[in-house]
Amino acid sequence: MVPLEDVRNAALFAWYARQQRILPWRGESDPYRILVSEIMLQQTQASRVVPFYDRFVSRFPTVESLASAVLQDVLDAWTGLGYNTRALRLRESARIIAAEGWPTTPETLAHLPGVGPYTAAAVASFAFGAQVPAVDTNLRRVLSRWHGESLSGAGLAAAAERSLGHPAGVWNQAMMDLGALVCVPKSPGCPTCPVRDWCSGPAAYTPPTAQGRFEGSARQLRGAIIRTLVRHTATVDAIVQQTGFSPGEVEAAISDLSAEGLVERHPDGVWQIAE
Ligand code: ADE
Repeated sequence: MVPLEDVRNAALFAWYARQQRILPWRGESDPYRILVSEIMLQQTQASRVVPFYDRFVSRFPTVESLASAVLQDVLDAWTGLGYNTRALRLRESARIIAAEGWPTTPETLAHLPGVGPYTAAAVASFAFGAQVPAVDTNLRRVLSRWHGESLSGAGLAAAAERSLGHPAGVWNQAMMDLGALVCVPKSPGCPTCPVRDWCSGPAAYTPPTAQGRFEGSARQLRGAIIRTLVRHTATVDAIVQQTGFSPGEVEAAISDLSAEGLVERHPDGVWQIAE
């Protein structure tokens, strides 16, 4: 008997061959480009990432070029994507890689700043052929539905290992596309799903509640401060004027950004992007 996992993966791979999304990092073998894409994709949807990714890799085409770039330029290429500490950590990773060479296993990739277990597994499987599942929230949702229970922790890791197809790089991408195009959180497209015959259906998984409002949030303010300081230095007062947030909110946000190493203060009270 052919194992269920193999039959299901054959259907998944056949669907992926026909329906995969056209994305600029697909089929890419340069680990640097793969790392850039995966860091951008951590908190941002693929369709939004595409123009930022294209611009970023033309401006910083190699790991060395990013390693030697000033933070102001890196943030200039990043603003609009949000979660700007990702850009700072990506440059730190580029500096480590330029000095020491590429880590190639999930375990060693996960030592890079800003690279968690998911991103490490994704890069290892796409760039270095590692046979590992890249388990993010999309994979968790799809696997929970396949297995008929809400999976997490060790159970999720075991289910991912058991379900993994070969090669893992293609399987991971196929699962991402299934999760993005068919097995979506709400109202999944079960009638057209290529693996519906080997799935328990959507009931096992409850989608998490949506992210809070962006308008008026600390995240919006952080983005506005970085956008301002990429263009010119500014005082807290000037930022208050520009953003419409209160002095207390601006002080709190800028002190967080400073603690994270994104901005720094001149002795005269003017703020700039960190050197
Ligand atoms: N989300 C995270 N990684 C991705 C990838 N490589 N392609 C599409 N969506 C993703």
